[in-house]
Amino acid sequence: MKGYDAEEFGKRYAERYDGLYGEAMADETNLSVETLAELANGGKVLEFAIGTGRVALPLAAKGLEVHGIEASEEMVAKLREKPGGQDIPVAIGDMSKTQVDGKFDLIYLVFNTIFNLTTQEAQVRCFQNASKHLSNSGVFVIETVLPDFSTYVEGQRMRGSWNTMEASRFEIAIQDQVEQTVAFQRIIISEDGIKMNPHFMRYAWPSELDLMAQIADLKRRERWAWWDKTPFTTESKSHISVYGRASK
Ligand SMILES: C[S@@+](CC[C@H](N)C(=O)[O-])C[C@H]1O[C@@H](n2cnc3c(N)ncnc32)[C@H](O)[C@@H]1O
Repeated sequence: MKGYDAEEFGKRYAERYDGLYGEAMADETNLSVETLAELANGGKVLEFAIGTGRVALPLAAKGLEVHGIEASEEMVAKLREKPGGQDIPVAIGDMSKTQVDGKFDLIYLVFNTIFNLTTQEAQVRCFQNASKHLSNSGVFVIETVLPDFSTYVEGQRMRGSWNTMEASRFEIAIQDQVEQTVAFQRIIISEDGIKMNPHFMRYAWPSELDLMAQIADLKRRERWAWWDKTPFTTESKSHISVYGRASK
């Protein structure tokens, strides 16, 4: 989607992010924090795309030293407003390139955010950047949904989210099977006019992510379907993958 860059998400969602996902994802957030804390094992932690601190803040509240990389100043400004949000060092930049000092025992990238890197090259660079920042015994954790195009017809899907007396919200998604991208427009039509909300992502299957890990000298150690460590099967709708150094 021409013109869509890494800062776009924050510009459009920073104000609304916690309202949309804070309460609604509270159970998932708590469960992920428990599992991530276990994987960190008391060590140093780095979140790629830390956002407004949904996961990082409760992790830091457990006594872990948490750092972040984030593309959007607007998202980080929201993190800074929250209790403990001033204490987390965050480097503003692209998670596929930005370097911070030190090595980390846990690096994590959750909520499908690897898909925010919209080319295969950028996703590979992201694994390589994680690998550069990992301690020898450290792990890199990725969480994504499994792409599901069963409701798409000829590579497209349009679906409504809600109607009121004054407005309608619907989403148009257009897939490019060659680039593995989906361009979304979430559109609100109301008596006040039309509001467009674009989103663009590149999806990758778990097997492709494993290959990216190999390129980055990492090897998969675990794959669960969910944060409660449910086994991953052909029925799974999401995966949590844990990578460690291949040469170890
Ligand atoms: C869905 S939010 C997830 C935020 C947080 N990790 C969470 O789980 O609540 C996606 C985040 O990725 C950030 N982002 C998008 N592209 C990025 C990039 N290339 N480098 C760093 N951050 C990026 C966005 O600004 C946004 O904060």
